[in-house]
Amino acid sequence: MSQPDQPGSAADIPARATAGYTSEYGEPPAGRWAAPGRVNLIGEHTDYNDGFVLPFALPQQTVVAAATTGEPGWTVWSEQSGERIEFDLDDVSEPGRVKGWGAYVAGTVWALRDAGFDVPGARMAIASDVPLGAGLSSSAALESAVLTALADLGGLDLPVDDRPGLAQRAENRYVGIPSGIMDQSASIRCQGGHALFLDCRSLAVEQIPFDLDSAGLTILVVDSRAPHQHVTGEYRARRAACEEGARALGVPALRDVPIDGLDAALARLDDPMIQRRVRHIVTENQRVLDTVELLRAGRVREIGPLLTASHVSMRDDFEITVAEVDVAVEAALAAGAYGARMTGGGFGGCVLALVDTDRVEAVATAVADAYAERGFTAPHSWPVLPTPGAHRLP
Ligand code: GLA
Repeated sequence: MSQPDQPGSAADIPARATAGYTSEYGEPPAGRWAAPGRVNLIGEHTDYNDGFVLPFALPQQTVVAAATTGEPGWTVWSEQSGERIEFDLDDVSEPGRVKGWGAYVAGTVWALRDAGFDVPGARMAIASDVPLGAGLSSSAALESAVLTALADLGGLDLPVDDRPGLAQRAENRYVGIPSGIMDQSASIRCQGGHALFLDCRSLAVEQIPFDLDSAGLTILVVDSRAPHQHVTGEYRARRAACEEGARALGVPALRDVPIDGLDAALARLDDPMIQRRVRHIVTENQRVLDTVELLRAGRVREIGPLLTASHVSMRDDFEITVAEVDVAVEAALAAGAYGARMTGGGFGGCVLALVDTDRVEAVATAVADAYAERGFTAPHSWPVLPTPGAHRLP
């Protein structure tokens, strides 16, 4: 099995952020803040339909080493890009002025200031082992780590529950990506050993025990390494189709179509494409609720078929999978996984598989073999456990 192809191991990330800070700025940081990437156990594209999601936080994390400067203005160094960027009050007076990876940092400052917070000027150094472009929310991890650091450094009165919405605004408005609230919620609100059951309408959360270890189970994450293409355009198109479906059905959001009213709702829609999109969202919301029920009852193995059904729905109804993720799911199931599905926005990214811990190697090998047979770029696979959301490091 191979790890994500980032340098070093997860344990090095805080040390690397500290070392980067010290060498860039000539003194140690005042503190370090970490925020994780995420996988979504189930509930895909439901967040912007006011529905349900069930993500958990990954051991892969982004760490910000930082200190205030006493002056307005921000300097940020990133290990991944090797660049140091600076931006000032003018750059965060309106969205879009800072581009590239710095937009996620500047956007977070902008969102905080726009919400009326007095954000302290600061220097930051960032290190991360959340793989980029793999659908594991590296951008939410960056926004969440920066937001947590600045909130702490500035002593901002910002309840944890309000933080994901601000980080999401940074991404929606400053960076210009029309994502929902799931990724930032996962990076900020997840707890170790739990999956986060989030109602994306009320923003109520319930921490659902997800004790894989004592059930002898592991979630294997497989980075499909499929080239991400047209991701933002396709995402926008799915959102638009869902909004059209809700409009045609006369409901505020597809969340409001009950599962036992699905057939009647579909009969009222003329466009077969809109019918498929609506069917995915309505059945996916129900699968989240069913998964939560099983987990509450400690019946972890039994969620497998729901995971696989979610994949089939994403493949056939929402049409967001690609050959690499379909092959990974099929190979994992054939090698004995209880369930497997693509996780995240789609068009590549990662697959997760629920497997007996003693089958982890066998399943990873089966996926790698299936890839080799088809001539796909070799996948990266690694086991994960649910970890805590954003926090200050000791
Ligand atoms: C991306 C978005 C999320 C969510 C997922 C699909 O990760 O950022 O808001 O919509 O896709 O579930």
